[in-house]
Amino acid sequence: MSLPDALVDALASARHVLALTGSGASAESGVPTFREAQTGLWSQYEPTQLATPEAFAQDPALIWRWYRWRRELVQAAEPNPGHVALARLHSLVDTMTLVTQNVDGLHQRAGSPDVVEYHGNLFANRCHEGSCDTNGADLEAEVPACPQCGGRLRPGVVWFGEAIPDGARERADAAAADCDVFLSIGTSSLVWPAAGLADIASTHGAVVVEINPDATPQTSRSHYSLRARAGELLPELVDSLARRKRSDT
Ligand code: OAD
Repeated sequence: MSLPDALVDALASARHVLALTGSGASAESGVPTFREAQTGLWSQYEPTQLATPEAFAQDPALIWRWYRWRRELVQAAEPNPGHVALARLHSLVDTMTLVTQNVDGLHQRAGSPDVVEYHGNLFANRCHEGSCDTNGADLEAEVPACPQCGGRLRPGVVWFGEAIPDGARERADAAAADCDVFLSIGTSSLVWPAAGLADIASTHGAVVVEINPDATPQTSRSHYSLRARAGELLPELVDSLARRKRSDT
């Protein structure tokens, strides 16, 4: 895809770039997105209905089976060229903040430092009853129990209707208000408050860029809509920026 010169210029002169990623950023690593049909064993379930406190209250064993399946899937996956390009972007701009709605840890495995995990982490465990120390729990149990209080353990992710983890929301809001370029990558922009970050950035004068093969509610609110897969477009974008930086020096 030919990239608009003005976009590469905006990146080259940016002081602070904020990238917000969604599950589309991991699609090319073989991790299914949230709103595409699941396959195999889980095809009869809607992920958006499993990722809820109500589903856990109703059938915690089912929810644990789903999360164990996702843990295995992610463990077997590798970061894709999009993750690698974003890790490289950190070294090309003064300040880069990477906020991800993904819980798979693939940005960190690709080398991105200090990732803001907006929806938690798939591999973390948390006591459903309180803030207990969960070390030493038997994670093989159908529904693992908290080693401290005996209550139920749950995966350390954010479910629908739950609060964003301490610090993550504040860091993301502050970065959105401060950035000069906002990249919205592989997200349907349907889930709040993450979907509101682009508007915060836009209101504060940032150039907003969407990278997604499909249109979303964010498309018409973006200065650039690049209809492409993240694993293909991001390496191209970061290469163009690196070339521009070299030619500027
Ligand atoms: P969605 O499944 O809602 O959206 C994935 C987006 O990725 C879609 O807009 C696709 O068009 C796009 N996409 C697919 N393949 C792509 C590729 N190769 N490159 C770029 N884009 C691609 O996932 P999210 O937006 O991440 O939250 O969903 C947001 C949140 O809702 C998730 O974090 C999760 C979910 O339910 C919770 O569980 C709380």
